[in-house]
Amino acid sequence: METKISASILSADFGNLERELRRAEESGCDMIHFDVMDGHFVPNLSYGVPVLKSIRKYCRLPFDVHLMITDPMKFIDAFADAGADNITFHLEADGDPEKIIEKIRSRGLTAGISVKPKTPAELVFPLIKKLDMVLVMTVEPGFGGQGFIPETLEKISALRKEAERQGCALDIEVDGGIGYNTSPKVRAAGANVLVSGSYIFKAEDMASAVASMRR
Ligand code: DX5
Ligand code: ZN
Repeated sequence: METKISASILSADFGNLERELRRAEESGCDMIHFDVMDGHFVPNLSYGVPVLKSIRKYCRLPFDVHLMITDPMKFIDAFADAGADNITFHLEADGDPEKIIEKIRSRGLTAGISVKPKTPAELVFPLIKKLDMVLVMTVEPGFGGQGFIPETLEKISALRKEAERQGCALDIEVDGGIGYNTSPKVRAAGANVLVSGSYIFKAEDMASAVASMRR
């Protein structure tokens, strides 16, 4: 499977998002990862609908929205209207996951579900056929720049194995502590969409950093 890189703008310079989005696009990233935090589901706040709406027009890449919020259902329409291409919500959040997936798809977007490091992969198995993507958190959600949790590798393999058993070409995305060192491990385990924030945005040469994760 081809490896896709999703640039997490949580590590970008918010003083100049237009330039940062251009940099990500010109460096060969495949999509933009947009982390939404509500200060409740995770102990941090980030940005939301008005920011997505403003920056959408400065970038041609698809927007991969990661909702780290307690009540995802309430905001699907707003993020769809603002220009999201994919919406991923957390299995640990409130609401019926099947209904949330249906809602995302009814807006013509792709749907993903995410699991925190301690949530077993098996809980996602019954939903695989309905999903476009599963996001395996490889750090505790809430902050950029943390260290990769190696125990998550087994979860990635278990999910890839189960997706194959069910005959699904599922995207498996990983998020947290992904860079040059961790990329070969997560890819070998079965991940094909790599989110990267600090590693690529803080790199001296973003294009080389992005290319290093595909090698
Ligand atoms: C963390 C976010 C990540 C974060 C990753 O809760 O979901 O997308 O930006 O940042 P790095 O790549 O720096 O670990
Ligand atoms: Zn994220």
